[in-house]
Amino acid sequence: LNTDLQAAIDVAAGLDALDAVRVHALGKNGVVTGLLKTLGKMSPEERQVEGPKINGLRAEIAAAIESRKSALEADLLAARLSSETLDLSLPPKEMPKGSIHPVSQVMDELAEIFADLGFAVATGPEIEDDWHNFTALNIPETHPARAMHDTFYFGEEQQRDGQPMMLRTHTSPVQIRTMTSEKPPIRIIAPGRTYRSDSDATHTPMFHQVEGLVIDRDIHMGHLKWTLETFVKAFFERDDIVLRFRPSYFPFTEPSAEVDVGYSLKDGKRIIGGDPTKEDGGWMEILGSGMVNRRVIEACDLDPDEWQGFAFGCGIDRLAMLKYGMDDLRAFFDGDLRWIRHYGFSV
Ligand code: PHE
Repeated sequence: LNTDLQAAIDVAAGLDALDAVRVHALGKNGVVTGLLKTLGKMSPEERQVEGPKINGLRAEIAAAIESRKSALEADLLAARLSSETLDLSLPPKEMPKGSIHPVSQVMDELAEIFADLGFAVATGPEIEDDWHNFTALNIPETHPARAMHDTFYFGEEQQRDGQPMMLRTHTSPVQIRTMTSEKPPIRIIAPGRTYRSDSDATHTPMFHQVEGLVIDRDIHMGHLKWTLETFVKAFFERDDIVLRFRPSYFPFTEPSAEVDVGYSLKDGKRIIGGDPTKEDGGWMEILGSGMVNRRVIEACDLDPDEWQGFAFGCGIDRLAMLKYGMDDLRAFFDGDLRWIRHYGFSV
């Protein structure tokens, strides 16, 4: 029996055949199992002789099956390794890509346009103190402009050097930070986040502005006008854009002007550019500007008789909406991937 079983194990050509031999020998009704069962009916003397023999046979057969199994598995692996190839030149599976948010895209465009005009990019903190956000900008404590800003204040226990702290309500404090840390001439833009307690289809509590500031000798409103015209035409990529300067008031500029761009109607949509005086055309406000108030220059320890300049502040989100045709500001900050896939810029 031993030699028969050993022979069957040796000729088993595959794992299935080998398993059949295992069942035939060691299974519940296997031949070796059958022999083991006979031990129970033997006399003790007989069992002492036959027991070791039968158990020895069982162990031998089990070991033979195990070793044949390992050999078959090794053959199988070797066959797979020699038949399969790994093509290292195949392109990898594409990973999901991110995209540039329209606000970031516009900030990049602004930095590029103004870099060509000699402007550097400046930044300031989003958590500001009272002096930088208001007082140095000629907005004293009693000034009604403070009420207009819908400011998010921090609690009294968060005051710094006795000053109330707040989320900056505009990027204008970066004017102050730049004038107090750098020597003129100054030419900067300062894009960034700003905050006001306001929320509807065209206002979000967090929004983006870009500040512009030029401080030099003999700067006048002509420089402001040329700079804004050059910027708007470059940004909207059209030469037929007209600007309208409307007298206005900001505490930190004097004189001040709000600037409108002309739009015309194309396929029922408002397009920046064209003739605003034509039927269906009109004006759209895009920014605030003016000559830097001499009180602001003085607050920064500069001599206003030597240094003058202009400043402007512009909503970035509005610029993005106008240029790329989005109509709900709130969608900008919802974080909906479908929106960003539709409007985002590929990286
Ligand atoms: N800071 C003003 C605002 O938020 C905009 C502005 C900036 C106006 C600079 C004039 C000069 O409305």
